[in-house]
Amino acid sequence: MDKGFPKDFLWGGATAANQCEGAYLSNGKGLSTADVMTVSDHGIPREITDGVIEGKYYPSHKGIDHYNRFKEDIALFAEMGFKCYRLSIAWSRIFPNGDEEVPNEDGLKYYDEVFNTCQQYGIEPLVTISHFETPLGLLQYGSWENRKVIGFYLRYCQTLFNRYKGKVKYWLTFNEINVMSTKPWMAAGIYSDDEQVRMSAAYHQFLASAKAVQMAHAIDPNNKVGMMYAGHIAYPNSCDPEDVQTTVDFMHKMLFYCDVQCRGYYPAYKLKEFEREGIVLPIQDGDKEELMKGKVDFLSYSYYMTHVIGKETNLNFKGLNGVKTGYKNPYLPTSDWGWSIDPKGLRYSLNLLYDRYQLPLMIVENGLGAIDKVEDDGRIHDSYRIDYLREHIKEIKKAIEVDGIPVMGYTMWGPIDIIAASTGEMKKRYGFIYVDVDDNGNGTFNRIKKDSFFWYKQVIESNGEHLE
Ligand code: BG6
Repeated sequence: MDKGFPKDFLWGGATAANQCEGAYLSNGKGLSTADVMTVSDHGIPREITDGVIEGKYYPSHKGIDHYNRFKEDIALFAEMGFKCYRLSIAWSRIFPNGDEEVPNEDGLKYYDEVFNTCQQYGIEPLVTISHFETPLGLLQYGSWENRKVIGFYLRYCQTLFNRYKGKVKYWLTFNEINVMSTKPWMAAGIYSDDEQVRMSAAYHQFLASAKAVQMAHAIDPNNKVGMMYAGHIAYPNSCDPEDVQTTVDFMHKMLFYCDVQCRGYYPAYKLKEFEREGIVLPIQDGDKEELMKGKVDFLSYSYYMTHVIGKETNLNFKGLNGVKTGYKNPYLPTSDWGWSIDPKGLRYSLNLLYDRYQLPLMIVENGLGAIDKVEDDGRIHDSYRIDYLREHIKEIKKAIEVDGIPVMGYTMWGPIDIIAASTGEMKKRYGFIYVDVDDNGNGTFNRIKKDSFFWYKQVIESNGEHLE
């Protein structure tokens, strides 16, 4: 009987360009939707401004200066033994306005170097094509609400698939595609409460993704293309059947994104909802076939926490800032940012998703955002982070060993401290590597290895056997 993690398990970490690169206008890069989001604080939504306004701080502009220090950062990942580095390409580095005919060579060269560095260390890149940053120039078209944007996205994909053929084989079409229902600005450059607008934009992203999957396979049959789900997983607040039904309804709101991308068609419950709400999808001839032909090769997702849903939960996510369920799980502790900590829920989610799709799964984000303290001797004792990750990895192991689920890999979120997506803060740190920069972009940007750095190295070295 096979025990433990598979030999080729993809251990690593994940980042996103707009949260780490900085250099927001270097070498021809254009502005993206991330570049007009200000820094905020715990519980306060980030402001989205009309262009860049002097005097406001936009964390993506500096990031952690990964753009200039990627060699040093990837060398540190290699020191931990990374097999895989999940990163995103900044679309507006390649097509600064989004609608150009010809890509920006300097942008392409930059990622050539990044992938060459990965190759040098035998690190497999996993590339998110669009991670919360649509070129701002595409807003003149109405962004993803406009079908035309599919063509721009596909031109971008074609450029990437051709240029990085042989260097990259794992791709994700959209980060956390279901965030369209909760934070549409991040998902698609859409700032609207209107469900019709969101569902049209989601429809266009589904089509774009389906076409990109086919294109990736045609350009290189070795390519594997996945979807990426924001792992919203919920428990009912009680065994009251009404709580249970509301939980099912909540999960439908989220899982329909996976249903479309993994099965190739809209589920009946969603079509019924559209009928009731008067929502009409902008379907054109041939679209249904495209969706079916463009099913993903694997399902990846982020897992941070679980929710509790009950009959009082308002399922109309009219706001623009995430899921509010109204319930707290009394059995679970929470992070400094109020996110429940639920390692067992990770195994539950793997089972739920595998039972539903029978596709290979990959955890492409998981981690603990916490405040770290640099001691007088310059060390950072982040045992809380080690505890969090250890307990989650143990549950993945059970899912593999006990439940027989094919899990391809684990790229924890933010192996090096980066900007938080929800608040733009730096003090919400996830990394094994500390970066000396504060919420306003002040600091030396020096990198320091935390205790968890050495712990993760040993986890990878032992292929997940030495977790203590
Ligand atoms: C996911 C995103 O939603 O969660 C990441 O894909 C993000 O971009 C991560 O950083 C953690 O959220 P936050 O707000 O703590 O950075």
